[in-house]
Amino acid sequence: MSLIAARAGLKLTLIPGVTADSIHPKAMPPHIGNNNMTGTPALGVWRAHANVWKYMLDNDVESALVIEDDVDFDVNIKDIMGKLNWQLRFNNTIRWGKEVEKGWGEECPYGCDWDEIFIGSCGGKPNRDRLDLHQMYEDAHAPNVSSLPNWVRREMTTMWNLTETDGLRVISPTWSPLCTMGYGLSRMGAMRMLYQIGGWRPFGYPVDLEIAWRTAEGKLSGYTISPPAVTSWRVGGAQDSDNDAGMDASAVSSLGNIQGRSEGIKNSVRKSLAGFLEKDYWGDRARMGR
Ligand SMILES: *[C@@H]1O[C@H](CO)[C@@H](O)[C@H](O)[C@H]1NC(C)=O
Ligand SMILES: *[C@@H]1O[C@H](CO)[C@@H](O)[C@H](O)[C@H]1NC(C)=O
Ligand SMILES: *[C@@H]1O[C@H](CO)[C@@H](O)[C@H](O)[C@H]1NC(C)=O
Ligand SMILES: *[C@@H]1O[C@H](CO)[C@@H](O)[C@H](O)[C@H]1NC(C)=O
Repeated sequence: MSLIAARAGLKLTLIPGVTADSIHPKAMPPHIGNNNMTGTPALGVWRAHANVWKYMLDNDVESALVIEDDVDFDVNIKDIMGKLNWQLRFNNTIRWGKEVEKGWGEECPYGCDWDEIFIGSCGGKPNRDRLDLHQMYEDAHAPNVSSLPNWVRREMTTMWNLTETDGLRVISPTWSPLCTMGYGLSRMGAMRMLYQIGGWRPFGYPVDLEIAWRTAEGKLSGYTISPPAVTSWRVGGAQDSDNDAGMDASAVSSLGNIQGRSEGIKNSVRKSLAGFLEKDYWGDRARMGR
């Protein structure tokens, strides 16, 4: 993660993962439903995300981009986020209500009206009852629709009528995002996550489902970009991601990162490393006759 972050010009704060059995019974979430997470790895995933939300509050972080450590993203992530920032602050046709004026200006990155901004998912959909709420914008780093994984290609074609498009993204209000590969959180978003899914209120399902359900209910809200800029990265074998949602890794060899695979990223930061870092000092010297 440090290597790909350095390549893309990001500086990360690493927050450790959590194993389920390290969580004291007193600190378990109060369960509801009959599919609770007790004894499953999903419990550790929840705690690790909740630790990020807590970190934001404890350290006065106004907004953060949370990325899991088994993802791939576009090497131009800063440019992608810059374009999204401009759209959300200065060209936002989705915003409504009393936050309109507050959210329009310079005060907050990406505007002031969001809890969450999903830039990385492995599934999910927009609100079918409010497909009118969307906007499209040009982003040369957005992959063409035919190269996308099924779930998001279906959204692009059936919801947004974009079939052959290249270099376009769609912003819509977040509704039902699956996976937590890459999402922005505001300070209010971190507080609402902790309130809804931090152990304050009862819940019992994996963290991404809880986020999706609370968002569909309108208890959390924000924006989603399609296609996403962060996706899963699979390497096969013992080092492979635990998150098998949305991508078959059976075709991936077990040589680790050098033969790893992601889908739906135009310029993968992970795949860019070889071209950026490989050199041939002696060979180049010899070829140049020096
Ligand atoms: C949660 O799951 C555990 C393990 O399957 C089970 O023992 C427990 O009774 C469940 N609790 C609730 C409230 O469903
Ligand atoms: C601003 O948003 C409108 C409505 O979604 C869109 O038509 C227009 O292309 C956007 N402008 C830019 C510069 O992206
Ligand atoms: C779409 O992108 C894929 C992967 O980058 C590429 O192989 C394909 O040629 C592109 N198709 C079009 C129509 O641009
Ligand atoms: C997509 O096409 C359908 C059928 O023509 C139309 O009803 C719908 O409004 C279109 N959606 C968008 C986002 O343009």
